[in-house]
This record gives sequence, C-alpha cells and structure tokens, in this order.
Amino acid sequence: MNKIIIKIKPLYRAIKNFQRNWRGFGGTPKGVSGEELDFLLAHAKQDGKFLEVGTAFGETTKALAKKGYVITMDPYIADENGLIMGYYKEDIIQEMFKNIEGKTVSFYPLKSEDVYEILRNDIWKRFDFIFIDGIHTYEDVKKDYRWAKALKEDGLIAFHDTHMPEINKFIKKYPDKEMKLFATYGSTKIYKRKEEK
Ligand SMILES: C[S@@+](CC[C@H](N)C(=O)[O-])C[C@H]1O[C@@H](n2cnc3c(N)ncnc32)[C@H](O)[C@@H]1O
Repeated sequence: MNKIIIKIKPLYRAIKNFQRNWRGFGGTPKGVSGEELDFLLAHAKQDGKFLEVGTAFGETTKALAKKGYVITMDPYIADENGLIMGYYKEDIIQEMFKNIEGKTVSFYPLKSEDVYEILRNDIWKRFDFIFIDGIHTYEDVKKDYRWAKALKEDGLIAFHDTHMPEINKFIKKYPDKEMKLFATYGSTKIYKRKEEK
C-alpha cells in the first residue's frame, strides 16, 4: 500500500475495513475464523487451561476464554509504517483489550520465548490445549514448540498455517515424528503427546 495513504490514518482504516468486509479485495483476516475456529474450539475442553502464542486482535483468545482460562502473549512489534499484519498496531491492541476485558485471560505483552523463560518452572503438564500462531518462521515455531512440554498427558497442541513452507518444514521434522497427529482441518493440525512407556 502506498506509504502516503498509510500515514493518513482515517483513509487507510477505511480502506482496510472495506477490504475486510468485501471478500476478494485483498483484506488480511484478523485471525482464525469460521469453521476453522469451530474446529479449534471443538478440541478445547470445557473448563480447560489453554495457552495461545500470538494474540493479535484477541479473537481466538476471546473464543477460547468462553471455555476456560487462557494465557496468551504477543509482543506487538510493528513494521516501519507502524503496522502489524497490515493493521495499525494501536488499533489491534485496543481491540484486543476490548476482546479480553472481563474474561479469564492472562495477557503477556512479550515474545513467546520470553514468556517461556518466565513460566518454564511453573508449567509442567499444566495445559489442556496449546495454540501456536505467532511468527510463521521455522526457527520461531521451533522455539514455540517447547511449549509442548507444558501439555497435560492428554493435552493437545495445534499449529496454524501449516501449509506455509517454513511451518510445513518444521511440522515434518518435529511434531510429525515426535507426536501423534490427532486432527486436521485445512492447514490447522492438532497433535497429541505420544503415550509414555
Ligand atoms: C496470525 S497472528 C495471531 C492471530 C490470533 N491467534 C487469532 O487467531 O486471532 C500472529 C501474531 O503473532 C504475533 N507475534 C509475533 N512475534 C511473536 C512472538 N515472538 N511471540 C508471540 N507472538 C508473536 C504477531 O504480533 C501477531 O499479532
């Protein structure tokens, strides 16, 4: 998008809203939605403990919080135009706080790896469901995969956008070999720990 338009906030916002509301105009989705979100929620058990990497607008966070307690994290690092995923950083954060207000959610404004360092001694086998949806690079998702240690025996870990080349490469090298594929919908894959011998 033209850099001048990005600086004219009301205009840029109007364009983004138009794109979002009218399919086919190149709008960026705000998060997991529709049947894919239903699929995720169907695997998050009632009154469970959930962890999400990558909060964004907090849409998935809000949906998960209807079923249990959620720990979620996002450092909100904008590009040189002040945008994240094509949206103004301040708009994303404002909407996120609206979405989680009054919900059973703990939000960390930090990178996944930093939250991991803070919580690592306190999280062993604690979560029923983990959703990995942060930076979509091989090295980052590999770091995020450390959260799998925090799953309960029967806990599930989901990866979004596994069709993306770097995530796909990671999936083939780690979860596909080390865990049991439990369910798939579109490019979202859910894995379960292998039974301990
Ligand atoms: C695809 S969006 C998440 C969408 C959200 N899970 C949903 O379904 O509504 C990815 C988010 O990951 C965040 N992110 C980037 N680096 C991160 C990191 N190191 N740890 C956690 N989140 C990160 C980005 O700021 C962005 O908001």
